[in-house]
Amino acid sequence: MGENPGFPLAAPPARAYLCPMAILKIARMGHPVLAAKARPVPDPRAPEIRRLVNDMVETMIDANGAGLAAPQVHVPLRVVVFQAPGERADPGLSEQEKFDHSCPLTVLINPEIAVLDPAPEGGWEGCLSVPGLRGWVERPAHIRYRGFGIEGETIERVARGFHARVVQHECDHLDGRLYPSRMADLNRLIFESEIRHFQQAG
Ligand code: NI
Repeated sequence: MGENPGFPLAAPPARAYLCPMAILKIARMGHPVLAAKARPVPDPRAPEIRRLVNDMVETMIDANGAGLAAPQVHVPLRVVVFQAPGERADPGLSEQEKFDHSCPLTVLINPEIAVLDPAPEGGWEGCLSVPGLRGWVERPAHIRYRGFGIEGETIERVARGFHARVVQHECDHLDGRLYPSRMADLNRLIFESEIRHFQQAG
């Protein structure tokens, strides 16, 4: 669009500076962007990646999610954000184990996962792209992951338990996979309002 040099450009509303982040629309199961393989990010420090990450964090927090992958907001790039709060870790763990089971809000660009122990562990998963449902998914419980942070720094961690689960779930999104495709028993794909029946049964 051309500019009319006879008029001064209107200043953007102050709100645009005070609240630079935006809540993005989340793609739901069935949208092709969720089934595609996402592309690597050429430059993790690029301003548009920082903007994307800020918006993903805002969107994840607004939706009360533990993690979010860029394809879920219609951007087919290898970027995930996640958190594994310490209160979700088993209270009986040692300090080192607690550390591996939890992590602060983390941005991971071009992530890679190495399985340290393939022994599977089951857990209930949900997904912002599969609203209202929960599924019992078995995944390796002990992994190492590596990727780049928003400053271009290398992030490398060992993860267990919920921490390992959320990282694997989010990285699956980058390869076009949703958690139902990881389930061994689809009888354990349920509405979240019914999960109490399973918890009572142990
Ligand atoms: Ni998900």
